[in-house]
Amino acid sequence: MAGFGKDSTTDEVLAGIDLHGKRVVVTGASGGLGEESARALASKGAAITMAARNPEKNAAAAARIRETVPDAQLETRELDLASLASVRAFAKGFLAEHERVDVLLNNAGVMACPHTTTADGFEMQLGTNHVGHFLLTGLLDPALGAGSRVVELSSGAHGMADVDYDDPMFERRPYHPWISYGQSKTANALFAVELDRRLRPRGAAAYSVHPGMIMTELARHFTEDTLKEMQEMRAERAARHGGAAEESPPMEFKTVEAGAATQVWAATAPELADRGGSYLANCTVGELGGDIAQSGVAAYALDPASATRLWTLSEELVGEALFG
Ligand SMILES: NC(=O)c1ccc[n+]([C@@H]2O[C@H](COP(=O)([O-])OP(=O)(O)OC[C@H]3O[C@@H](n4cnc5c(N)ncnc54)[C@H](OP(=O)(O)O)[C@@H]3O)[C@@H](O)[C@H]2O)c1
Repeated sequence: MAGFGKDSTTDEVLAGIDLHGKRVVVTGASGGLGEESARALASKGAAITMAARNPEKNAAAAARIRETVPDAQLETRELDLASLASVRAFAKGFLAEHERVDVLLNNAGVMACPHTTTADGFEMQLGTNHVGHFLLTGLLDPALGAGSRVVELSSGAHGMADVDYDDPMFERRPYHPWISYGQSKTANALFAVELDRRLRPRGAAAYSVHPGMIMTELARHFTEDTLKEMQEMRAERAARHGGAAEESPPMEFKTVEAGAATQVWAATAPELADRGGSYLANCTVGELGGDIAQSGVAAYALDPASATRLWTLSEELVGEALFG
């Protein structure tokens, strides 16, 4: 493995990589890690489809990218992952103009929001972070060929919850913003496991990524309560890894450039070609059972049986069998 680590930046991991002739789709490109990924990949010659739900914000992000990468090949398209109709409309429009996707960066996400539902009645975090991306990937499947990669943004927060197959939408259990977020981020990692298994015969691959902790608009739903609950859950987790039970470990934040590094590494690194299905963090392959505040990953987030089960559930939720 190349010698990258938690402080490596997007530009560092892409040094020496030429992406001319490649088409990259980035969801949630209107800010944060999505915008930085789009900028960094465009600077290496990739043609970027910036997908976002807010056209004005997306256009503003594209304009910012052009300030530093004047010859960036960018197109902006509307995509609301909290609406299956919007996902279908996006895929139809995209496939009418493009035959191939080299990288699908399923980056968009919502975190710890109050209880609410998507246009199709799904709990918002699972609905947006996983179900919307599941349908999007399935509809773009015909454009994924040899060498294509799908990158799923998971999170160390996957350690907060496994997928609850008895009640994934919180219809019978009390809603908890962090259990919901954790469940959705576990789903992202599991999706990469089963997707990779299905893509492998054609020479394509899927990965999941924990970017680290980065100050972005993701924290827009934070309240005193959600902050307190998060600190408590981090303290419990630290205690399981030998820390003091009463203390939440200090938060180590990355810059946006270091935060987006692992996902652009997942999208392009030649050394990852035979590591499909992996959970990546700090520009390295995650450590099974290790500290998830660093690059550790819980066994349940990579469990192949659970990944198959989630796939079946997801097909039921979107109402169609996808992928070939
Ligand atoms: N930042 C961190 O510390 C951290 C840590 C672990 C994992 N992650 C993951 O990294 C990914 C990117 O997060 P970020 O930090 O860059 O957050 P961010 O700045 O809030 O960006 C999230 C992006 O997702 C978009 N989005 C939200 N809901 C959407 C929907 N229904 N349809 C389409 N797009 C939607 C947002 O659009 P709007 O601009 O319109 O809201 C925005 O473009 C997320 O999946 C997150 O879970 C982040």
